[in-house]
Amino acid sequence: MSEKSIVIACDHGGFDLKEEFKKVLQAQGFEVLDLGANSAESVDYPDYGAALASEIEKGSAEKGVLICGSGIGISIAANRNPAVRAAVCHSGLTARLARQHNDANVLSLGARIVGLETALDCLNEFLTTEFEGGRHERRVAKLGSA
Ligand code: RB5
Repeated sequence: MSEKSIVIACDHGGFDLKEEFKKVLQAQGFEVLDLGANSAESVDYPDYGAALASEIEKGSAEKGVLICGSGIGISIAANRNPAVRAAVCHSGLTARLARQHNDANVLSLGARIVGLETALDCLNEFLTTEFEGGRHERRVAKLGSA
């Protein structure tokens, strides 16, 4: 796994934003493992959240991005896997805090909630912000995730 690998998945509600993100990530030199969905045709978000979680668990990438209509259902699905700390974010600040305090390894976005500019802001903060450690280390350890 390289630091420049990232796994991405969505349901139909997140398809358009996932395609935008892929372009942005590839332009930044990321190798993007795209688990679908592959169109805006209706699918079930639990399948995609779980598939992304399995790739994180296997170590295919250190970080992942999930997108559904609200960001909620697909994050719940992924968070059932203890290897995942998926955070639903709706601003650059929430994405930054998810990294600094929670060491989130998966960003979850609602394509029907945030516009493209905010979504890109979330992605940038998620990718560039380091975990602060310190007092947050103990708390993250209590989450019991990998
Ligand atoms: C699909 O219509 C929608 O329910 C889904 O994208 C997501 O918002 C679920 O949490």
